[in-house]
Amino acid sequence: MNKTHHEEADLDGAKQTVSGGTGEMFDEIAERYDLLNRILSMGQDQYWRRRAVKSLRIKPGDHILDVATGTGDLAMTIAKVHPLASVQGIDPSANMVAVGNEKLKGGDYERRVTLNIGDGQALNFEDNSFDGAIVSFGIRNFPDRLKGLQEMTRVTKPGRQVVILELSEPRKGPMAIAARTYIHHVVPRIGSALSGKKEYRYLQESIAAFPSAEQFKALMETAGLERVRVTPLSFGAVNLFVGTVKK
Ligand SMILES: C[S@@+](CC[C@H](N)C(=O)[O-])C[C@H]1O[C@@H](n2cnc3c(N)ncnc32)[C@H](O)[C@@H]1O
Repeated sequence: MNKTHHEEADLDGAKQTVSGGTGEMFDEIAERYDLLNRILSMGQDQYWRRRAVKSLRIKPGDHILDVATGTGDLAMTIAKVHPLASVQGIDPSANMVAVGNEKLKGGDYERRVTLNIGDGQALNFEDNSFDGAIVSFGIRNFPDRLKGLQEMTRVTKPGRQVVILELSEPRKGPMAIAARTYIHHVVPRIGSALSGKKEYRYLQESIAAFPSAEQFKALMETAGLERVRVTPLSFGAVNLFVGTVKK
């Protein structure tokens, strides 16, 4: 098994955020993250996650990796939609993972969903150990996105799917101006007001800095995925990327 700094963090017993992304920033907003998600996406975020889960083509008994799991909403959606599947979530933010584990406690999914601290760019799992890998609204935050994609590809069995759900800034089409105004002016203001933190300014910057759908599709192919499909959701506010690990 690969030894990573995430493993070191676990070994010394410290439940600490690991470096390698924006984990520290998410520590600051963890308590209000779910509420802000519902408000800022106008209730759409759970619909987007369900669409992503459907594209994973999960079978009974499958073991799925949820990278950048945050507070575990996607992992729990998988467990809800697929009662015979199990999910391993990882995220570098100790506070986000703690909120997720609190939500799991005593609930229906506690036995099938495990959330741990970890870096998506250095996964602490063997090759081909999952029946699918998924990341929602997370890969935007990775300093090295290609490495993150290569890691998801490495730990997923050949012939199975790697799915990425990510926000995007629609540049053309009927909703482009409204969506851009919303992302640049409304989201940072509501986010800062409700969280009391400046972190929601980062959201607009990271969305704008994310590659185009075509560029990101090419990056997935470079990482070793084939038959990559891109589906825009909600007038292009979100893109769903699905690739298959080469046999
Ligand atoms: C916007 S949240 C998304 C959380 C969750 N997937 C969801 O759908 O709500 C982004 C997450 O990416 C995580 N993240 C940042 N850098 C990362 C890395 N290098 N590896 C894995 N996750 C990372 C953050 O800690 C944060 O929890």
